[in-house]
Amino acid sequence: MLDARQTSPYPTPVGDAPAALAVTRLTLTRFRGYDSARLEPDHRPVVLTGPNGAGKTNLLEAVSFLAPGRGLRGAKLSEVERIGGSTGNGAGWAVAAVLDTPTGPVEIGTGREIGPQAASGVERDRRVVRVDGHPAKGQTVLAEHVAVVWLTPQMDRLFLEGSSGRRRFLDRLVFGFDPAHAGRLSRYEHALRERARLLREGHRGWNGDEGWLGGLEDQMATTGVAVAAARRDVVQRLRAACGRAVGPFPGADLTVQGTVERWLDEGPALAAEDALRRSLRDSRRADSDGGGATLGPHKSDLAVRHAQKDMPAALCSTGEQKALLIAIMLANARLLAAERGAAPLLLLDEVAAHLDPQRREALFDEILALGAQAWMTGTDDSVFGPLGGAAKRFHIEDATVTPA
Ligand SMILES: Nc1ncnc2c1ncn2[C@@H]1O[C@H](COP(=O)(O)OP(=O)(O)O)[C@@H](O)[C@H]1O
Ligand SMILES: [Mg+2]
Repeated sequence: MLDARQTSPYPTPVGDAPAALAVTRLTLTRFRGYDSARLEPDHRPVVLTGPNGAGKTNLLEAVSFLAPGRGLRGAKLSEVERIGGSTGNGAGWAVAAVLDTPTGPVEIGTGREIGPQAASGVERDRRVVRVDGHPAKGQTVLAEHVAVVWLTPQMDRLFLEGSSGRRRFLDRLVFGFDPAHAGRLSRYEHALRERARLLREGHRGWNGDEGWLGGLEDQMATTGVAVAAARRDVVQRLRAACGRAVGPFPGADLTVQGTVERWLDEGPALAAEDALRRSLRDSRRADSDGGGATLGPHKSDLAVRHAQKDMPAALCSTGEQKALLIAIMLANARLLAAERGAAPLLLLDEVAAHLDPQRREALFDEILALGAQAWMTGTDDSVFGPLGGAAKRFHIEDATVTPA
């Protein structure tokens, strides 16, 4: 553990502070169904119960905005703002939190602030981030303070649908180990979009923009190979941590598949960058017709197999697929606890009720052993009975949160 910390990009935890990551105060303003809400959890796991439509998932979504990205619903910033409510529409929304982290407490504020452009009708969908009261240039800085992973009912289809959901899932795991991944990924995606736009607009004359186009492709080659390398590195570490069954959870065999990843298997990163740069230059004509780019880490996929059954996850039962996702998530939390000094925040939406009692108790045991602040939702209190006083409980009804 000490060795892992020495090689970790994070400062060593301060003094004898408990090695944990936990939200200790959360405030929502004009967020989804909430006009305003405030809750003060402690380091224990959080249980949110209440009827359908009460606002449980909305609360988890608010926590998910403490990390970079579009939250657990992948929403547009404008969708999140409360429709109706006392202040009327167009006033923006905010999530503020105080967290304990292994390096000390931190205050995070984020949301959508409507700038002066709103008045002129050119409203920008810009997410504002403040850390300890200071405005941050972008949201990627959040990954330095908070790691969050989630499991939602929509993810029951993660192994059945296209690769983009699996890439997002993998990238979220990578953010925890390598906070710079978020910035690299957004620079790569930005260059990818810009290049596509240039090729589309300058369909006939793209030769004239060689300098600009070449610069974007260079950016894509360096950031793209770094993105692929970070994913590959985390998958290798996870493979070791979740290859075998843990209690009732199956072993998961993970590989990341893609051309850039294959280049990295075969040679040094610099050679992969050259190959990607060359491939982008050679595919300009095809890409100007098809849009996007034929090749790059935006095409990679995370392949998962059920280790004991030696079966691709997509062919496993829904319950087995969920168990695989939980196994991967727990392995990720164990590794992060060892390397970063704290397990990530775990957002488990409607997970507990769908597990049989044996798996449910095994999940609770793991969460408590990890010291992870897991936020768990359900309609039925009794499901969380085995947690006893080890969890902090809130009841939610009609977007009103009360400590239970
Ligand atoms: N932007 C919004 N403004 C106001 N209400 C919203 C907004 N987005 C979602 N809602 C409401 O939030 C409720 C769903 O809350 P949710 O957290 O998903 O419920 P649950 O407790 O079942 O998880 C719905 O009633 C929905 O209409
Ligand atoms: Mg819900």
